[in-house]
Amino acid sequence: MTNNVLEKQPYYTEKYRPQYHFTPERQWMNDPNGMVFYNGEYHLFYQYHPNGTTWGPMHWGHAVSKDLVHWEHLPIGLAPDEHGTIFSGSAVVDWNDTSGFFDGQSGLVAIFTHADTYPDSDRPRQRQSLAFSKDNGRTWIKYEGNPVLQEENIIDFRDPKVFWHRETNQWVMVIAAGQTVRIYTSQNLTSWEFASEFGEGHGSHQGVWECPDLFELTVDGDSNQKKWVLFVSIGNDPKYEEGSRTQYFIGEFDGKTFFNDYKPETTLWIDHGRDNYAGVSWSDVPAEDGRRIYIGWMSNWQYANVTPTKEWRSAMTIPRVLELKKTEEGIRLVQKPVRELQGIRDKKILIQNEVVVPGKNILENVNSNTFEIIAEFEIGTAKEFGFKVCKGANEETIIGFDAENQTLFIDRTNSGEAAFHEAFAGKHECYLLPENNKITLHVFVDQSSVELFGNNGKAVITDLIFPNQENKHLELYVKHEEIKLHSLELYSLKSTWR
Ligand code: FRU
Repeated sequence: MTNNVLEKQPYYTEKYRPQYHFTPERQWMNDPNGMVFYNGEYHLFYQYHPNGTTWGPMHWGHAVSKDLVHWEHLPIGLAPDEHGTIFSGSAVVDWNDTSGFFDGQSGLVAIFTHADTYPDSDRPRQRQSLAFSKDNGRTWIKYEGNPVLQEENIIDFRDPKVFWHRETNQWVMVIAAGQTVRIYTSQNLTSWEFASEFGEGHGSHQGVWECPDLFELTVDGDSNQKKWVLFVSIGNDPKYEEGSRTQYFIGEFDGKTFFNDYKPETTLWIDHGRDNYAGVSWSDVPAEDGRRIYIGWMSNWQYANVTPTKEWRSAMTIPRVLELKKTEEGIRLVQKPVRELQGIRDKKILIQNEVVVPGKNILENVNSNTFEIIAEFEIGTAKEFGFKVCKGANEETIIGFDAENQTLFIDRTNSGEAAFHEAFAGKHECYLLPENNKITLHVFVDQSSVELFGNNGKAVITDLIFPNQENKHLELYVKHEEIKLHSLELYSLKSTWR
């Protein structure tokens, strides 16, 4: 394959190329890193291998956006050095120059894992380091005192996420440490003190713990009722069919220790699809905005290195807002697409109060693989209903609700290319209760991905798909007997890259 052939391809139109999701122009990407809002820009760094389309020596790729939807690619933010390659980590605004890096002004500090091996050994070594930027993240200076934190007894010791804890006036770091997370505190970002450890016997341990995040959210929007949320991603272990995925805990945090509100054996997942991993949230989103916004890596370590794209590999999820809501089962995390995505809505189709019966597809004339649907259904007698998307003669991806079993699902058994990994094809589902006998489905399809938000984000399923690019048919289907469609809004979405 010659570069010339690639050059002639119009920008961001290659096979499977997402049109409104973040992807690197070329080469390999994994976790989102260093997400911080500063001087009007959202920064997104990411695990990046600039010399190949599979995982390799890690750098931090970099992009900025004013609206979380249109991204500008910038040169590599952090490259490997004498301490190793650059694994995942976070970035913060040091508003009061606690670090002394900024001559009394404010600036950006990145806190990340340096990965190498012990001298004369192949035993992995993971240590935490700093870099700072005085020019809105355009150039970075590695701190001369690196590394700033190491623990010789822990092999998997990585992915520091740092935030300022106002109540105790200090920086807090949450970091993955094998099968637990550890919490460290600091006054100045350069010297760190161990505070506590959480996780033994709690939640899922079906993989190494990675990429934690810790933040506070209101419950049902009530500022008098707040809870802390701890995200922990768990790595792929061949013993478990789900591969890598992300769990969360809800509890209290006093500046030193996290206390789980639920029984240790309770495991909560942020997503019930296969392709949402290593997600963490943006730091320093202004208080007037008040949102906790996160993005995940839309892939799975089971097959991330072999997905069938050529020029680049992997995308991020759409940015999502995190909230807590009281439900019948207790307080749960709810996710919503960021409102900024409404800005790329194009042609609209609106259908209201329609009774849908088997065998008659009311969306027969739609032809798209880059769109959004918001639909509200009243269940009635239907056994199952939903959408068949990216449909061609022999392929389809089914997004639906099984009313008999009360499950929301995406079925990619027959979605397109899947032979690259035996675990790829399949159906992914989760429990969802109708509310007042209604189910809402909010769906985002973008060439090679489906994101499904059921009942306003109470249940979420994110899955990659690799359909033939000509498969653009859409079907609203119902099985036995009929379903009342209260309303359906369908928008084709504009490319954010062209
Ligand atoms: C998670 C992860 C992190 C690590 C990074 C390396 O996907 O394994 O724990 O820092 O990827 O690229």
